Amino acid sequence: MEKTFAIIKPRAVKEGHVDDIVAMIKADGFTVDCMETITITQEQAQELYVEHKERPFFGEMVETMTASPVVVMQLSKEGAVKAWRDLMGATNPAEAEAGTVRAKFGKSIGENATHGSDSLQSAERELGIFFKNCK
Ligand code: RTP
Ligand code: MG
Repeated sequence: MEKTFAIIKPRAVKEGHVDDIVAMIKADGFTVDCMETITITQEQAQELYVEHKERPFFGEMVETMTASPVVVMQLSKEGAVKAWRDLMGATNPAEAEAGTVRAKFGKSIGENATHGSDSLQSAERELGIFFKNCK
């Protein structure tokens, strides 16, 4: 079964949306293989978003992602990578389709409720950063 990596970002955790987001994930047919509440380190955030390290918002993004606890998950489903991206909606919550996670729970482009891997290769790489022992 295909696997992907998901994060419920700090602001969505703080605002109490974890249960609602996990319920949406399960209702969409995913299996939550592993789920953990952690505070991301600077090193993990920089590694996660390494493709963006030259972008002007990189520093701010690392600060935002490490500021308070997040929920990290390994999700399984047929076509999990695309399915999770579809369920999240567009990066900018203002442009996300109605009913998607980011449309419902995102506040802004920087605080858009969730992260999802954008390819199979990213999923494998990102799961390796956050899960050492998830089947
Ligand atoms: P993610 O990696 O978090 O799942 O988001 P994504 O693929 O939809 O978007 P990506 O292009 O990978 O951007 C990563 C995160 O950077 C923040 N961002 N800020 N200020 C800006 O213009 C800007 N652009 C992107 C967002 O929080 C986005 O989730
Ligand atoms: Mg991305």
